Amino acid sequence: MSVVTLNEFIIERQADFPYAKGELTRLLTHIGVAAKVVNREVNKAGLVDILGEAGSDNIQGEQQKKLDVYADEKFISSLRSSGECCGIASEENENVVAFDDELAKNGKYIVTMDPLDGSSNIDVNVSIGTIFSIYKRISSIGHKAKIEDFIQEGTKQLAAGYIIYGSSTMMVYTTGRGVNGFTLDPSIGEFCLSHPDIKTPVSGSLYSINEGNYIKFPEGVKQYLKYCQEIDGPTGRPYTSRYIGSLVADFHRNLLKGGIFIYPKSAGYPSGKLRLLYECNPMAMLVEQAGGKATDGRGNRIMDIKPKSLHQREPFFVGSRNMIDKAEKFMLKYGHKEPKL
Ligand code: AHG
Ligand code: MN
Ligand code: MN
Repeated sequence: MSVVTLNEFIIERQADFPYAKGELTRLLTHIGVAAKVVNREVNKAGLVDILGEAGSDNIQGEQQKKLDVYADEKFISSLRSSGECCGIASEENENVVAFDDELAKNGKYIVTMDPLDGSSNIDVNVSIGTIFSIYKRISSIGHKAKIEDFIQEGTKQLAAGYIIYGSSTMMVYTTGRGVNGFTLDPSIGEFCLSHPDIKTPVSGSLYSINEGNYIKFPEGVKQYLKYCQEIDGPTGRPYTSRYIGSLVADFHRNLLKGGIFIYPKSAGYPSGKLRLLYECNPMAMLVEQAGGKATDGRGNRIMDIKPKSLHQREPFFVGSRNMIDKAEKFMLKYGHKEPKL
């Protein structure tokens, strides 16, 4: 059986972009290279002194781990040198990182990313990931990227994807023509096409939510969870609960097996926890390309939300189409207002 590497595949598919021939190819290739570098570091996380707090907080007030900083730097330097990317918005940086060298200023694209997702799982050898989106810039070429280049609706994404550093390392991405997954073969150091044209089941039996926050959830979420747990019949409910606490890992499992992932707003997080630009939107594009659905639990498609700020949070309902529709019905019937505790 012949093996198709990520680079071969990207080049094969570049005809999909009539206006952008080699450009997106180069960007995606650079993301793949940075992913391999980060993967190497993730793999030896238990061996060297790279674990633990880096001693600084990120702008969300959450503690940064050393690998967050490392991954952020590697992706930024790789994208800067691609010559196609003029700037980056990342979870780890309060402001946009707008490149000021001549090569990068001529780049036509911007990237939003969560360089290390699931960082609370680093120390305990549980799957973590990287999430990214690629957009065409709005500001004029030859100048530094501006904030408006990043505040674009998810529908404007040209490509989106993630890398999961798990029991094996995979890169899964879409350019708007389906979703394809590549598994890193460590013996040759290449991502190889292992999951062509991923489609997510229309229904599933997995629900993924942090049930420790139950008391803080809106009534609609509580009632939907009760529905998931009720006895129904031999093949249907009760559903099974699966929650890792790394969005990439939870999303990846549900994408392949069928399920629903919910991070609702709650008494603790009145706007939800996950960030629109580099967590919700890329996953929304991927899930839609795989036949699934992503909403805010109030009937709004995630990719249609007009962002107002770089680190904006949104409630996030993502997964199998029928399960999202059902959850939306519960939200409508029982309400989406978080309780006052
Ligand atoms: P990050 O590590 O990039 O800050 O993201 C953590 C996110 C996401 O990966 C996950 O779905 C969610 O936080 C888990 O939050 P809870 O611990 O509140 O369940
Ligand atoms: Mn994250
Ligand atoms: Mn992160």
